Amino acid sequence: MPVQPTVAVIVVAAGSGTRLGRPEPKAFAPLAGRPILAHALDRVFGMSEPAQVIVVAPASHHAVGAELATSIAGAAAEYVTVVAGGASRQASVAAGLAALWPSVDTVLVHDAARALTPSEQFDLVVRRVTESRGGVTPALPVTDTIKRVGPDIADSAGALHVTDAAVRGTVDRSELVAVQTPQGFPRAALLDAYAAAAEEYTDDAALFAAAGGPVRTVAGAADAFKITTPWDLRRAEQELAPDAAPHGVRTGLGIDVHAFDAATPLWLGGVHWPGEPGLAGHSDGDALSHAICDALLGAAGLGDIGSRFGTADPQLENARGDVFLTATVALLRDAGFSIGNVAVQVIANHPKLGPRRHEVEAHLSGIVGAPVSVAATTSDHLGFTGRGEGIAAIATALVQQAT
Ligand code: CTP
Ligand code: MG
Repeated sequence: MPVQPTVAVIVVAAGSGTRLGRPEPKAFAPLAGRPILAHALDRVFGMSEPAQVIVVAPASHHAVGAELATSIAGAAAEYVTVVAGGASRQASVAAGLAALWPSVDTVLVHDAARALTPSEQFDLVVRRVTESRGGVTPALPVTDTIKRVGPDIADSAGALHVTDAAVRGTVDRSELVAVQTPQGFPRAALLDAYAAAAEEYTDDAALFAAAGGPVRTVAGAADAFKITTPWDLRRAEQELAPDAAPHGVRTGLGIDVHAFDAATPLWLGGVHWPGEPGLAGHSDGDALSHAICDALLGAAGLGDIGSRFGTADPQLENARGDVFLTATVALLRDAGFSIGNVAVQVIANHPKLGPRRHEVEAHLSGIVGAPVSVAATTSDHLGFTGRGEGIAAIATALVQQAT
């Protein structure tokens, strides 16, 4: 049975982003390594009730928009509709309205450019529209004192700088608010208002009000600011920094232990050690390589070797350390990380690493594509390594997210 949501969210993402000044349309410009639209959709799909999600993309980006939206939707992909936008924001919203499913009775319109708008703001608007059956817009108090100037506003092209305009007066701030999206409306009234609209409005609440519809506010959120200029984009990057550390250097730590198993050959650091007792494990037990994998995965926030490769995977039975390390390096590369360096220390009575240290370092550095330094120590006869029962390895890694 097809899904029948009563709420739809139209995410308008068809603007070119003149003021941002990027080569790609604004919604597809990168923010912390992902398109601005992706961040907006993350939060739309975080709503408490499922909604039809109509992405209005530039015609040139219809396919990439569809791919992005379905991948972010995951299990909710059947709720996604993608349409091509128009020449103005209003035309883009109209294109979205034309794609509403029959089951929908409440419509939210949201700017993709307000990429960090929290999911709760969507839920709040839905709730208020349902209660009031009128239009709803999030709003914030205006904190700056507002002046009336002009009509001679200089630099009207970008309107980013107001230079040398005559100040005509001060507007009473106590009755002003700054409005955001999503704005929500009862479906039928919004469709009527769009059909009646005779001019271009800057937001849907204005268009709705022009047709006589009541509009009330709900509390907006600072995070719902609109990414308009490069400065706004940097602000958004900083807001995400604790999670994404967009240009950040990150470190990781990995520890692995395997018991000796004299019946198997020893592979350590990806190389063979003839005459030495081997290590037990589902794979070849190469604790040194495994510790490096965990350090790298941890640094990149990609989990750990167990969750990534699964000890039950029959394909990995007896797999060499090189197999895990090569796959780990590929995972980091795909996630946009470059590797700075790796340092690893082996704690064991044997084998003696010193004589072959440079060989192991060269081998591992070749796979990792960055310097890998290897050190070794004993544990002064203490513990399982001291008793010669097995090997422990501890690794650290430094990675950097590509810009
Ligand atoms: N929008 C749209 N279709 C248009 C114009 C704008 O879908 N023809 C969308 C934008 O993608 C954005 C939202 O409306 O998510 C708010 O518009 P704005 O911030 O002005 O974005 P742009 O028009 O892309 O930017 P600019 O005005 O700087 O060119
Ligand atoms: Mg615009």
